[in-house]
Amino acid sequence: MRVNLSVKIGKLNLKNPVILCSGTFSEELKYFLDFKKIGALVTKTITLKPNLGNPPPRTCETPSGLLNSIGLENPGLDLFLKRDLVKFLKWGVPIIVSITSIDEPEELFILAKELAKIKELKTIEVNLSCPNLRIKKLISQDKDATYNVVKKLRKISSQTLIVKLSPNVTDISEIALAAEKAGADSVSLINTVSAMAVDIQTRKPMLSTVTGGLSGPAIKPIALRAVWQVYQRVKIPIIGMGGIMDAKDAIEFILCGATAVGIGTANFVNPKASLEIIEGIKGYLEANRFKDIKELIGTLKV
Ligand SMILES: Cc1cc2nc3c(=O)[nH]c(=O)nc-3n(C[C@H](O)[C@H](O)[C@H](O)COP(=O)(O)O)c2cc1C
Repeated sequence: MRVNLSVKIGKLNLKNPVILCSGTFSEELKYFLDFKKIGALVTKTITLKPNLGNPPPRTCETPSGLLNSIGLENPGLDLFLKRDLVKFLKWGVPIIVSITSIDEPEELFILAKELAKIKELKTIEVNLSCPNLRIKKLISQDKDATYNVVKKLRKISSQTLIVKLSPNVTDISEIALAAEKAGADSVSLINTVSAMAVDIQTRKPMLSTVTGGLSGPAIKPIALRAVWQVYQRVKIPIIGMGGIMDAKDAIEFILCGATAVGIGTANFVNPKASLEIIEGIKGYLEANRFKDIKELIGTLKV
């Protein structure tokens, strides 16, 4: 039986719902898998100016999860455009450029304006949810701030606009709704969960920044709950992520309302995970006699 795996996120057509998450893959992955087979790739978040990120140690393994505090190390817009984006756009897979600003929201609007000039680039993801910055409050921790920033970005860019949300809030569906009302085409969730780890020998925190962001299987139940809650409130497509390691995990997110799924930490454990997940979703649809993945989205029996 032939099954249709294609989904749509705003104006972006994906051949299948599997996306590689921002910050969790690099070019070397091409030695393990053919990027053309993946639904889309989200690039590491960039800022307007180059950013060194946080000092080491900035990653640490925890039971069922990876704790990181990279702090948005990136080359800045100019070098990213010249060195990276030209190359990525030749890979034959939809590229989603992730952007943010660290101190001044104005920088985010400049970034969006510059990216809007690139015809080959169809989609941007605005990361309003990095937990590893020395700022008091994230934009995605405030529904009014989220609304205002997304509204302004919507005016600047007609590219498909995905808004990435933080789980570190009381009610993520309020924030998703604000993003939708402001004109977002999609929301992606979740970014990492604020967390910490301790070394009892040195009696020091494992990360230089003390706290960081937890990803991997440990956060899957949190992410599923977030996707389910947001699905009850918004009509725009949801990209679900957080601890997806195999096709079974991905299907759980689709049942809870995700139109597409992001694969992050799994790429570090098994570089071929995303391909196996695509095949596994296909097998599940065939075995359960679904002709189209869209028949499955949000069909959790509650
Ligand atoms: C090492 C590392 C770096 C990350 N960098 C970014 C980033 O630059 N921008 C972003 O939006 N999310 C970033 N994330 C978050 C992931 O994109 C994803 O939302 C999160 O890890 C949850 O998915 P997972 O459990 O499958 O990894 C990063 C995650 C990790 C582990």
